Amino acid sequence: MKTKSKIFATTFSLSVAFFSAQNENVNKHFLDLDGTSTNIKIQPTMYGIFFEDINFAADGGLYAELIKNRSFEFDEPLTGWKQPNTKTLSPNLDSGFLTIITDKSKTNKNYARITVWNDKNYSLENEGFRGIGLHQGEKYDFSFNLENISGNISAVNASLVEENGKVISAVSTIIKGGGWQKYSLVFAPKSTVEKAKLQLTFTGKGVVNMDMISLFPQDTWKGRKGGMRKDLVQKLYDLQPGFLRFPGGCIVEGRTLAERYQWKKTIGKVEDRENLINKWNNGFAHRLTPDYWQSFGLGFFEYFQLSEDLGAEPLPILSCGMACQFNTAELVKMEDLNPYVQDALDLIEFANGDSNTKWGKIRTEMGHPKPFNMKYIGVGNEQWGEDYIERYKVFETAIHDKYPNIQIISGSGPSPDGEFFDYGWKELKKLNAQIVDEHYYNSPDWFLKNADRYDKYDRRGPKVFAGEYAAQSVGVVKPDNKNNWQTALSEAAFMTGLERNADVVTMTSYAPLLAHADGWQWTPDLIWFNNLKSYATPNYYVQKLFSNNKGTDLIKIFENGKVLTGQNNLYASAVKDSKNGETIIKIVNSNAVQTSVEINPKNIKPGNKMTKIILTSSGLSDENNFQTENIKPVEETQVLKKGKISVDIPANSLIILKIK
Ligand code: AHR
Repeated sequence: MKTKSKIFATTFSLSVAFFSAQNENVNKHFLDLDGTSTNIKIQPTMYGIFFEDINFAADGGLYAELIKNRSFEFDEPLTGWKQPNTKTLSPNLDSGFLTIITDKSKTNKNYARITVWNDKNYSLENEGFRGIGLHQGEKYDFSFNLENISGNISAVNASLVEENGKVISAVSTIIKGGGWQKYSLVFAPKSTVEKAKLQLTFTGKGVVNMDMISLFPQDTWKGRKGGMRKDLVQKLYDLQPGFLRFPGGCIVEGRTLAERYQWKKTIGKVEDRENLINKWNNGFAHRLTPDYWQSFGLGFFEYFQLSEDLGAEPLPILSCGMACQFNTAELVKMEDLNPYVQDALDLIEFANGDSNTKWGKIRTEMGHPKPFNMKYIGVGNEQWGEDYIERYKVFETAIHDKYPNIQIISGSGPSPDGEFFDYGWKELKKLNAQIVDEHYYNSPDWFLKNADRYDKYDRRGPKVFAGEYAAQSVGVVKPDNKNNWQTALSEAAFMTGLERNADVVTMTSYAPLLAHADGWQWTPDLIWFNNLKSYATPNYYVQKLFSNNKGTDLIKIFENGKVLTGQNNLYASAVKDSKNGETIIKIVNSNAVQTSVEINPKNIKPGNKMTKIILTSSGLSDENNFQTENIKPVEETQVLKKGKISVDIPANSLIILKIK
């Protein structure tokens, strides 16, 4: 006879076994992979990048200029500059002083008139963009324009100085005769410093005019003089983006029409480009950035050139005569819209026209006789309502009359649903719009739940450009949003849905792209940087894995005959790469436990091994930072026994399987 305790022990061990077996079943999934062609191509533009000058992304970021307000053009012309021994702007016999002279006939209208009374005491300093970052062992081109007015100033002495006053590098130049002249020198810093400043002193007493005081690393992307920050462009390059959307974002629209982005003012000689206040200067009361302007050193020519460098299709977005509807919502009257439309037509000529055309000639003179072969243009950024549709029609007719092969991107407003979104889509469909831009900043949960969003889209309507999206850990425009693993994982789950619907969704981009750790306005962002370094967020690695493994043709992956859109917290998509004969499977497991998957391949004969790339982290709130990138892809090879694809997917992870 069994004792009570024995009965209990047996029952207990049986139930444990049952529980484990049941658990095993729950965590084991049998998927079917069908290698038969779906005839759906993954467009080369599928995964691209969205660039906007927000968070110091251009000046202070990608554009490698290290001097803020180099030509004294800000509304407060001495922003970024200091004269430590000058108490007032009036004559100061103990040191000297600076006044701003304005020549309204010029686009770059201000310059500094510097009067030196006592050269032992007078100095002029620039603080850079939250400091000047300098790397030991690198060289820096320093230049300025100077006109000698009167007196006997014989030299300009320039130093790069640490916050505590320690000199890191010093150079000096003799001042030659009258007239404006450009002086060029090279700094070689003795140490690496994140927040240095530039200090100018003068030898002798007298008056000089100065303008375009500029400092650039020599080691820029492709070694271009006055070029872009190498580490940042490298990160963009590594994404292998299909397109580069520029210059935004709301910056296209401007707070007012006068402050909209006007591409024609951003080309030609850098020193002639008219500076403009940045829209994000006072965009958010909680992140005011009064020293944020646009020098346009990174202008439309440079954006096209960058697209070419990255192997990405250039995708410029232009104002359609509507200022940001979150700000003034100023509108150009329909009868006054022509100059805006003409800007679009001229841009196409600038990019694609031959050297005999007016704008093609300017591109040629800027050093690029070969057309940029632009194929896409965006009309308006994030506009909504009847005013938009009315204006869009005018642009569409004018552009397609002259350039029938250009693909036009139209917009559906700032939200992924609701009245404006529905109205925009309804009207754009009626107009046979080609590609409609959708924006969604939403919770990680929204991204998980919407992985099937495009499964339901009309296959005969316009194509979709998921032009701005990012999961928000706290809420939209909340300053505490983080680029944590939870947001990245939810984006990965959602992206399997984008890919699975590659017949409808032909372009996608995370937004915003870049953020200066000390100068940001909007978070989360794909890449964070300071004056010396940058790091990639987990969200960046998700983008990179999808983009680098986009393949060429969609194939099908199922569980029980159904696509995986979050049943049992699993998401999946699969592609073939006709260029190298690979089959690529992407699976997201958003379960808090490991899951095993057995994939049954049909119409594909797997070789005897596969590459497995895993992106995961043990904590959903984990992040990367300047010190370490803990969350990054890990690659391994797995042997396939008898062609069987069996894989364990860790809790909360994205896994990419590549099978020859
Ligand atoms: O990406 C930041 C901003 O979000 C963009 O400028 C705008 O288009 C959207 O509202």
